[in-house]
Amino acid sequence: MTILVTGAAGFIGYHTCLALLGRGEDVIGIDILNDYYDVSLKEARLGELRLHAGFSFERIDVADREAVGALIAKNAGITGVVHLASQAGVRYSLVDPYAYTRANVEGHLVLLETCRGLEALNHFVYASSSSVYGANTKLPFSINDPVDTPLSIYAATKRSMELMSHSYAHIYGMPLTGLRFFTVYGPWGRPDMAALIFIRKILAGEPIPVFNNGDMSRDFTYIDDIVSGILACLDKPPVAEAGKPPSRFYNIGNNKAEPLMRFISVLEDALGEKAEIDFQPMQTGDVPATFADITETERDFGFKPTTSIDEGLPRLVEWYRGYYDSDQS
Ligand SMILES: NC(=O)c1ccc[n+]([C@@H]2O[C@H](COP(=O)([O-])OP(=O)(O)OC[C@H]3O[C@@H](n4cnc5c(N)ncnc54)[C@H](O)[C@@H]3O)[C@@H](O)[C@H]2O)c1
Repeated sequence: MTILVTGAAGFIGYHTCLALLGRGEDVIGIDILNDYYDVSLKEARLGELRLHAGFSFERIDVADREAVGALIAKNAGITGVVHLASQAGVRYSLVDPYAYTRANVEGHLVLLETCRGLEALNHFVYASSSSVYGANTKLPFSINDPVDTPLSIYAATKRSMELMSHSYAHIYGMPLTGLRFFTVYGPWGRPDMAALIFIRKILAGEPIPVFNNGDMSRDFTYIDDIVSGILACLDKPPVAEAGKPPSRFYNIGNNKAEPLMRFISVLEDALGEKAEIDFQPMQTGDVPATFADITETERDFGFKPTTSIDEGLPRLVEWYRGYYDSDQS
């Protein structure tokens, strides 16, 4: 089987490629390697992936119609797509909203349009986000809840990807699944996300910014749980039912809302250092709590996250020390 993974040099993309290669798939990775965060980390992830014979890579912008079209034309045997390339991050969408419409909306459309003619394609899975739940206050977030109140352009572009996918499933019968990820963390993680920001600052003896005066909770999900969910989903494409095209959405979270202050305390224990906390008000576009209802994900894919933050955070710290204390950084 040949799987196209977009965003292959990214955090979730890297782990997904490794898991696919590990079970014997051929993987074509694409990524633009943008400088939203440290490019050398993306290159280091790619360096690891290149050790595998089944991996090939092209540096391509998913919104570049010609480049994506040429890649797909050369690889007509692609059986699955895992589309993870995105301009990620809620806060940066206040700084450069156009980066989000280009990568997320235009990029998704280019992939849908270029992949819809692939005869061997069984399933196109793409990354959505828990941020689509926006201003919803009912917890846990269920895929049956309305998602019409995005609080950031990032969230609005992720919801747009879901809506565009529904259209393609309706028009072309293309099997499409959107996975709403909930705050993913783990080794090789993103330096712009809370876990890595906290580790860096705690080790440097700097105060860590904690928003909404610490009254926040997140459904922190360990990367290995996310990847097993992606693969289980990829293996089970949706089928059209009466009046319902083959387009589905699922929550992929840990199904446990962790108070941010507990997260920090577990991290302090893993690091053996105390954090100095800089309490700050709520930030625009942010939400106080996320908590995934994974009933449908468990029912349809047997998805059951197994890694608590007590296990996952020490693993992240161990990787961090090994990676950033070595010459690689
Ligand atoms: N990490 C999380 O907690 C989280 C939560 C919800 C949703 N998501 C979604 O999961 C996906 C993967 O996230 P991640 O954490 O691995 O982020 P990441 O930033 O590490 O990976 C995304 C990759 O996409 C690449 N990219 C960006 N624009 C591109 C373009 N136009 N063409 C080609 N490549 C491009 C980047 O260079 C990067 O390597 C994203 O779609 C993100 O929105 C992640």
